[in-house]
Amino acid sequence: MFDLILRNATLKDGSNTDIGIADGKITALEQNVGGDSHEVVECAGQLVTPPFVDAHFHMDATLSLGMPRMNVSGTLLEGIALWGELKPQLTVEGMVERALRYCDLAVSRGLLAIRSHVDVSDPTLRTAEAMLEVQRLVKPYIDLQLVAFPQDGYLRSPGAVDLLNRSLDMGLNIVGGIPHFERTMADGAASVEQLCRIAADRGLPVDLHCDESDDPMSRHIETLAQQTVRFGLQGRVTGSHLTSMHSMDNYYATKLIALMVEADIRVIANPLINITLQGRHDSYPKRRGQTRVPELMAAGLTVAFGHDCVMDPWYSLGSGDMLEVASMGLHVAQMTSRAAIGQAFDAVTANPAKILGLPDYGIALGNPADLVLLQATSAIEAVRLRPTRLAVIKGGRIIARTAPQITQLSLTGRPDHVNPADYAPKT
Ligand code: FE2
Repeated sequence: MFDLILRNATLKDGSNTDIGIADGKITALEQNVGGDSHEVVECAGQLVTPPFVDAHFHMDATLSLGMPRMNVSGTLLEGIALWGELKPQLTVEGMVERALRYCDLAVSRGLLAIRSHVDVSDPTLRTAEAMLEVQRLVKPYIDLQLVAFPQDGYLRSPGAVDLLNRSLDMGLNIVGGIPHFERTMADGAASVEQLCRIAADRGLPVDLHCDESDDPMSRHIETLAQQTVRFGLQGRVTGSHLTSMHSMDNYYATKLIALMVEADIRVIANPLINITLQGRHDSYPKRRGQTRVPELMAAGLTVAFGHDCVMDPWYSLGSGDMLEVASMGLHVAQMTSRAAIGQAFDAVTANPAKILGLPDYGIALGNPADLVLLQATSAIEAVRLRPTRLAVIKGGRIIARTAPQITQLSLTGRPDHVNPADYAPKT
C-alpha cells in the first residue's frame, strides 16, 4: 500500500520509472509498480528530480528592495553601504515576514534547502534572532542552514569577534567571514586563520565570502586552503564567490587549484550576482568575474551555483528559481556541451546538497520522498525552459502544485495549443 505513486517519471539519467512512496519515503522504484495507492500522479514521461538546493543566499536581506532607497550605481560597495543604512531600521518581525514570503516562493520553485549567510555585525543580533525563528518555522519543508557572517569585517568592525561568537552560541552553526573586506591583505589572512580556528574548536563548517573582487592579487583562497589542511578541516570548508580567480594569472591559478584539491575546498559561484557586480571598474573589455567553474569541476572539486540575492540592496531581480541561476552560470562559463549543461543542473541540485551535507539526498530506495515534477522531459530541457514545477513533494506529501503552462493558439492551419515541453529534441 502506497500513499503516493508517481507513474512514468523520467529521471536525470534518462531512465523511466514509477516512484512508490509510503510513510514519507521512497519504497518502490521500478516500472509498473503494483498495489493500491492513496493518490497517483501521472508524470507522462516528464522529469522528476530531487529538490533544488541553494548553497548561498542572504535571507535576512531578501525582499528589502527599495528600503530605504535604491542602489543607484548597482555596485557591491554601494550595496554594502545601503545595507548599512537599512540595518538600524530592521525589525525581527519585518525580517521574519519577508523571509517567510521568500520561502513560499522557494517552495513553489521546488527549492527546499537553502544555506543563508546572516549578517551578525549589528550589536543587537536581531538578524540572527529573526533567522533562527524563520529556521524553526520553515523546518517542516525547508532545510535552512545559517552562517554567522561578519559583513562589516571580522577584524575591521569593532566588536565583530565577540558578536560572531555570540551568534554561534545562539545557534548559528557555520562560521562565515569576508577576508577581502578587511583593511589589509595581512588582516584578511589573519581573519581566515582565526575563523578556521573557531571552526576547529567548535567542530563547525566554514563558509567564507572569499575574494569577491576583481583584484587578481586577492588570494585569500590560498590561505583558506592552507588553514583548512592545518586544522584538519578538509571537506568542511567552502569558498563562496572566489571571483578574483577569474582575473588571476593562469600559471598561479594552476598551482592554486591543486592546493584547493588538497584541502577539498567546496566552491560556490553566484552567477547572477557575479556577472552584474564584477568588472565594474573595467571599461572594455569588461571581465565576467565568475570563478573558474569548468576548471574547478574538472579538478574534481564540488562546485555549486548559488542565488545569493533576490530583490535586496545588491540585486533588484531574481525569483528563487535555481534553474535561472544554472542558466546564467553555464552561459557565463560557456558550459554549452550537453555534458556541461548536465553539470550546471548538478550545480543547483546534487553538488550543493553535498556542500550542505544533506543526508539521504537523491532518488533512491529508502530515501525521503523529497521530489519535484517538472514540465520538461530532461535535465537539459529543464535548464533551457525553466519550466513549471507541476508538483513539489516533501516527505511524501505534495506541498505545492502548479498547473502546466499550455498556450492556446488561434492560427489557421496550425496546432491549437503550444506546450513548451513538446519541443524537446528526440535525442
Ligand atoms: Fe553572498
